[in-house]
Amino acid sequence: MELDAVHDQARARLPRGVYDYYAGGTEAEVTLGESVTSWQRWRLRPRMLRDVSAVSMTTTLLGTPVSMPIGVAPWALQRMAHPDGEAGTARGAAAAGTLMTVSTTATVSLAEVATASAGPKWFQLYRVKDPEYTDDLVRQAAEAGYRALVMTVDLPFLGRRLRDLVNEFQLPQGIEMANHPPKQAYGERGLNQALGTIATATWTFEDVTRFAALTSMPLVVKGVLRGDDAQRCLDAGASAVWVSTHGGRQVDPAIASAIALPEIVDAVGPDVEVYADGGVRRGSDVLTALALGARAVFVGRPTIWGLAAGGADGVRDVLTELAAALELTMALCGVSDVHDVPADLVVRA
Ligand code: FNR
Ligand code: LAC
Repeated sequence: MELDAVHDQARARLPRGVYDYYAGGTEAEVTLGESVTSWQRWRLRPRMLRDVSAVSMTTTLLGTPVSMPIGVAPWALQRMAHPDGEAGTARGAAAAGTLMTVSTTATVSLAEVATASAGPKWFQLYRVKDPEYTDDLVRQAAEAGYRALVMTVDLPFLGRRLRDLVNEFQLPQGIEMANHPPKQAYGERGLNQALGTIATATWTFEDVTRFAALTSMPLVVKGVLRGDDAQRCLDAGASAVWVSTHGGRQVDPAIASAIALPEIVDAVGPDVEVYADGGVRRGSDVLTALALGARAVFVGRPTIWGLAAGGADGVRDVLTELAAALELTMALCGVSDVHDVPADLVVRA
């Protein structure tokens, strides 16, 4: 099914407040819109007369083999989309042969997600309660077999999401953050109180160094939008950086990933894995990101709509649809391997 049709189905199924929480951005939602359109500020320069009868999309992300250069971004509170929640997404990603990033704000505990699916998983970290509790989550993730730690650094505080404020959005009854301490008070279950528990306002580059030393999992820093920050993260001990505007949910108007990506790739050099997310919806978006130097892209909302519309199968279908679109676009552009996407395949429109 077309991704747009999956989105329509999910929108029809979800309560308005839940849909708006998932779909929305902050302030005027400029970045939310530009995340999608900014990939089209690049144009492809297809090459002809290359043998593209076989196209290879398999790659590795920090050593983890995946079927495509497309992973599942961490997104919060997945049981609001489907009763299986994060367990469903993990099964869907595994069925598509790629990896899932599990959020600290998951509604299924990180250990239960690991039990639900043997597919490759990364753990995305926010601060919960206090440093000792947060450090313990990192240890639990390593024990449960997660293969990388993704430190999300663009949420010192929750951005101002006007849709949620207008809707006075509350966490639905029965939805709990499973990695939080039991019985943690969520105030009136208002979104801001609930998600206020994960804010990372105290974090600095020293925390990058601390987490890198705390765990043997490689550390990815997510939410970087500047070359100088990217370099400082590496200097502080990160293994990779993830270019992201948090899906237009934090700073607005922030520079879109498709525009920020080249500066970051340039700053860190060719030997460091750089990932990008935000508005990736088409095979051409993925190919553009690879030409700009990304090792892989991640998708958030397409998998939200997939889970809401069809559970694990819905997530699998969205990912395989995107992979098929990438495969065709690569072939049409004369590229037969994701490791061999020339930088001159794209030019600014
Ligand atoms: C997110 N994102 C996010 N990121 C993160 O590091 N931890 C999290 O818990 C969440 N939660 C979350 C919830 C929802 C509803 C959305 C839409 C996004 C950001 C996410 O990982 C990713 O950066 C964006 O979603 C990518 O943009 P697209 O693909 O949704 O356009
Ligand atoms: C969000 C947080 C939880 O974007 O990352 O809602």
